[in-house]
Amino acid sequence: MTTPHEKHLSRLPVTRWPSLEEARASKWLSPLSVGRLSLADRTWIPAMVPWRASDDGFVTPAVIEWYARFAEGRPGAIVIEATGIRDVPSGPLLRIGHDRFVPGLSELVRAVRSASGGRTKLFVQIIDFLAIKRRPERNKFLERFLVIDDALRERAAALLEDDGLVREDDAGVRARLIASSDAQLLSILTPRDHESMTMGHRERVTDTHLSHVRALPEVLPALFADAAVRAEAAGFDGVELHYAHAYTMASFLSRTNTRDDGYGGTIEGRLRLPIEVIDAVRARVSEPFLIGARILGDEVIDGGTHLEEARTIGVALSRAGLDFLSISKGGRFEDAAQPKVGHAAYPYTGPSGHECMPTVKIGPLDHEGAHLDALEPRRNTTAFGRNVSLAREIRRAIREAGLSTPVITAGGIGTYAEAEAIVRGEEADIVAAARQALADPDWLEKIRRGEGHLVRRCYFTNYCEALDQHHKEVTCQQWDREQLEQPLVLKSKDGKRRLTAPRRS
Ligand SMILES: Cc1cc2nc3c(=O)[nH]c(=O)nc-3n(C[C@H](O)[C@H](O)[C@H](O)COP(=O)(O)O)c2cc1C
Ligand code: SF4
Repeated sequence: MTTPHEKHLSRLPVTRWPSLEEARASKWLSPLSVGRLSLADRTWIPAMVPWRASDDGFVTPAVIEWYARFAEGRPGAIVIEATGIRDVPSGPLLRIGHDRFVPGLSELVRAVRSASGGRTKLFVQIIDFLAIKRRPERNKFLERFLVIDDALRERAAALLEDDGLVREDDAGVRARLIASSDAQLLSILTPRDHESMTMGHRERVTDTHLSHVRALPEVLPALFADAAVRAEAAGFDGVELHYAHAYTMASFLSRTNTRDDGYGGTIEGRLRLPIEVIDAVRARVSEPFLIGARILGDEVIDGGTHLEEARTIGVALSRAGLDFLSISKGGRFEDAAQPKVGHAAYPYTGPSGHECMPTVKIGPLDHEGAHLDALEPRRNTTAFGRNVSLAREIRRAIREAGLSTPVITAGGIGTYAEAEAIVRGEEADIVAAARQALADPDWLEKIRRGEGHLVRRCYFTNYCEALDQHHKEVTCQQWDREQLEQPLVLKSKDGKRRLTAPRRS
């Protein structure tokens, strides 16, 4: 039967799935044991926010169902979504900033252990983020939020050719700004104010004039350590420190971090807080508890950190004692698309976001509807396996430094052939798949049984990511309208989509 979506989608590049014997001989599907990290195999589901937590950050039945469903595919590890380390309201994002969150998280751990038969290791990604405001209406911003100072008066007076504006009161200046054109405002406002007006105000780690931003190096090590202690109490095998994408710690590591308090500028300065966080966490958790981190192999923004520095960062953090290092790419605010008025910018909407969760652009097709350009998904030029080279180069640098920290790659990997080639080629130690696991949480079990032809393959066209962007429950277009009438099916708030994949062979 044709689903409503199928008629718009082309077939994916052809791949060959392994026989049972090949699957049994697979390196990707073989155990890994390095330092504290031991996995039943080298498969991994990276963090994915599904927008299922309660509005006050607690685990809900839908959160448990989501992760238990992934655990049925028995991956080597699952990383629970980005979970906030502070005890502050942050919408339906999971939180771990207070002991009251521990019982729910413990229940989640038990559900994953039970669904995977104890096979899957479980980590929680712990995150800090700075404030971001919704894009205001232009005139409301100029009337209420813009701070009027002498420098602004002078720029307005010069541009609008009206010397009187230098002595004008606030209300008068605001009225003239409201009457000005957008092009004039671009010259009158500071770049930062202009950004606040057109994108929504966003704090940066370099805003050291704000006392809470200046104090980040004092408060974050303890906040991360407290969160890790709670994760251990909840029964997790470890934490993944979120040092990637658009958030606080990635911004400390970024080349754009120009703080002059010893926590910015040089690469040593930018590494200082991330290393202090690792030290603080290690000092507070038990010896076997794992500490990993996710970093960017490339920020993919002008003036940002690229691979050369990411190699140095990878080595330094490994040397600081990380048990694993997961490599991601992009996902920054700096190049995000302009949000609509009343919405906040989303860091996966610009070119750097594309690199983080690469989207398939449907290309030329052959007469059967398969992509012409490749038999196996092709790297770098398509969405597939696009980020592997970053993991490979960072891993190489880590090995050259005499360290054995396992490195994880992710991004557009949805076939056995590619994952196996990456592990065999020693480009990464572990291959993660987020969206492929969402499209078919049983895909690894099917491969292990030599039934890869039954895998429901991800299209990588990012229907799920669009839901994420609008803070709606994340589901997959391939199954969310199936068997809605089944009993006990949890559904989205509008009742139109099921929240986890139906079970079928
Ligand atoms: C809906 C959704 C939510 C995500 N949430 C997170 C997150 O919380 N933390 C994170 O590090 N990455 C997050 N990611 C990125 C994924 O972990 C992964 O790096 C990315 O999807 C590329 O891998 P894939 O091609 O296998 O999907 C998310 C991705 C998706 C699709
Ligand atoms: S997982 Fe996401 S990108 Fe993949 S097929 Fe489903 S909705 Fe599309």
